[in-house]
Amino acid sequence: MRVRIKHRKPIGRCCSLSAAVWSLVGCVLLLHCYSLLHHQRHSNKGKMGGGDVEFRARLTHELEEIEEGGFQVPPPKGRRSPRAAKRRPRRSFTPIEEFLDEYSPIRHLFFPDRITAIDPLMEGNNGSGSSRYFYPGRMWLDTDGNPIQAHGGGVLYVKKRSEGTYYWYGENKDGPTYHAHRRGAARVDIIGVSCYSSNDLWTWKNEGIVLAGEETDPSHDLYKLNVLERPKVIYNDKTHKYVMWMHIDDVNYTKASVGVAVSGHPTGPFEYLYSKQPHGFDSRDMTIFKDDDGLAYIIYSSDDNCELHIGRLTDDYLDVVPNVMRRILVGKRREAPALFKHQGTYYMITSGCTGWAPNEALAHAAESIMGPWETMGNPCVGGTKVSQDATFFSQSTYVLPLPGLPGMFIFMADRWNPAELNNSRYVWLPLVVGGAADRPLEYSFGFPLWSRVSIYWHRRWRLPNGSIGQK
Ligand code: DGJ
Repeated sequence: MRVRIKHRKPIGRCCSLSAAVWSLVGCVLLLHCYSLLHHQRHSNKGKMGGGDVEFRARLTHELEEIEEGGFQVPPPKGRRSPRAAKRRPRRSFTPIEEFLDEYSPIRHLFFPDRITAIDPLMEGNNGSGSSRYFYPGRMWLDTDGNPIQAHGGGVLYVKKRSEGTYYWYGENKDGPTYHAHRRGAARVDIIGVSCYSSNDLWTWKNEGIVLAGEETDPSHDLYKLNVLERPKVIYNDKTHKYVMWMHIDDVNYTKASVGVAVSGHPTGPFEYLYSKQPHGFDSRDMTIFKDDDGLAYIIYSSDDNCELHIGRLTDDYLDVVPNVMRRILVGKRREAPALFKHQGTYYMITSGCTGWAPNEALAHAAESIMGPWETMGNPCVGGTKVSQDATFFSQSTYVLPLPGLPGMFIFMADRWNPAELNNSRYVWLPLVVGGAADRPLEYSFGFPLWSRVSIYWHRRWRLPNGSIGQK
């Protein structure tokens, strides 16, 4: 926690009660500053000279604090991947390197075993399935007992009469991870887009693959050796169609396009229509957003991920409106956009561009969806500094408003596992909009204009009783 001291009050000669109180406050602040400095010195020491064992012990301790689990400090010389050991022979592993090292002795902290999985079949058995707790980073099983495959996904809420159903769409990555060539990113062949349904956001039924990859035709966008990422679905009230947009690419990420598919039902099958470079620009990580007035927008990383573009979709949501596009966050190199709205203000969470490796999230806000957008800072709260700076070892994909709970959202993120992408995890956390932003903004003469966006770390958490389809 940061403490800002704005004024230092002089202590006069006469020892009034208020002077005594102020001296006490001063002492407490001094003590606090001392402990902060001490802590800082301690962490720098760990970083620079301390060696692998001390450093890993500290990292483990930090992760223990987050996870509150009974983890053991790993033995001083754990097995290392030969590649990682060669890369960094002399110094300690950074937390991110530790996270990425498939042979790390503390890997179970990031990717806990199946035995701890969130399991709806175990509900009421006192296991981790009981009481519908979310456990960010743990394996999450569907109602058939299989790990949920909906990576880079988003959730659509469909209300029919009095019944509401959530549909979770995402990349099915349930195949082997490999590198297409030596310098290529880790990948899994396109299998398709999965869909899961739920009425409580916790128990998910597999509705199958609603848009399948193409096995044989290499000229097809969805040919298995290409890339399909970050599918998102919105409903068009005029055409009564469910429209899916996704990132379409080739194995080397040079096609940089979006793809569009459509269906009459939320559970598909979706018909794949076409791909294009929106507004004639390269487009990689992307999302779509449907506003309260029914207008929909696409937001995509462009100009080799240097900036984001935002543009309106046509009324049928099947294309972009030509020439309606704004460049935003120019030169900031952001990706993984997740956009949401609260009390007339637009908010967005983005990540930096570091492949599958986690990095620091940023929250942005705008009065008009077309901008200008301002950056508010890192929204991650709680846990430790290390995990806050790595978005709790995950990357944004979607922000889901909770119906009936204004100002409350679920931040949906992926904890990518580049060694086994099919074993990537989900980090779902409460996101709250409220309070003043903690950073003066560029265009506001130093006054914070926006409410703060906070994503709160929880080792486990649950939705309030009775809030979302719960008895
Ligand atoms: C980061 C993106 O956000 C992911 O969707 C994926 O494209 C990876 N890069 C690939 O390295």
